[in-house]
Amino acid sequence: MKEKNMCSENIYLIGFMGCGKSSVASYLHGKYGMTVLEMDEEIEAEEKMCIAEIFSRKGETYFREKETELLKKIGQKKNLVVSCGGGVPMRAENVKLIKQNGKLFLLTAEPETILSRVKNNHSRPLLEGKKNLNAIRQMMEDRKPAYEAAADFQIRTDDRELGSICREILGKLGRERLE
Ligand code: S3P
Repeated sequence: MKEKNMCSENIYLIGFMGCGKSSVASYLHGKYGMTVLEMDEEIEAEEKMCIAEIFSRKGETYFREKETELLKKIGQKKNLVVSCGGGVPMRAENVKLIKQNGKLFLLTAEPETILSRVKNNHSRPLLEGKKNLNAIRQMMEDRKPAYEAAADFQIRTDDRELGSICREILGKLGRERLE
């Protein structure tokens, strides 16, 4: 049976930058035909600017407002895999919106794993000048309580194949009979 029509609830992927949200979403699309919505990409397209430009020209608060507005629109859709920006669960309003029509999957990774995944990327303004273990560890610690409080499920991603991570996610939803 084709996966995409099996359940109407959205799957929201949350977690720290570099935890694998986009890779997991892309695998769920490629392997199971699920429809993916990348929040950062949607906002970039709407604003006609990349995230770094939005931060520098309009400010972080403006970007955070755009995230909340987008979540309100997404709330009217079904059967989506939503790859959330890492800051989304830090606003209680966002978590409330998400919980109205979906399940939150927190993807976790060790700071060492995160650093190795983000170190050569310059699209994340909050990490510029902070690509070292201490800074990443600190930011992760600061966010951990909100992430964990928001999550319906936690999925470890260190040293794992995408297929295994995705099967675990779908298994948690009782959607493992797929192929
Ligand atoms: C952010 C994460 C980024 C992006 C923005 C801010 C954050 O998304 O939304 O740079 O505050 O954690 P990814 O988590 O997809 O990198």
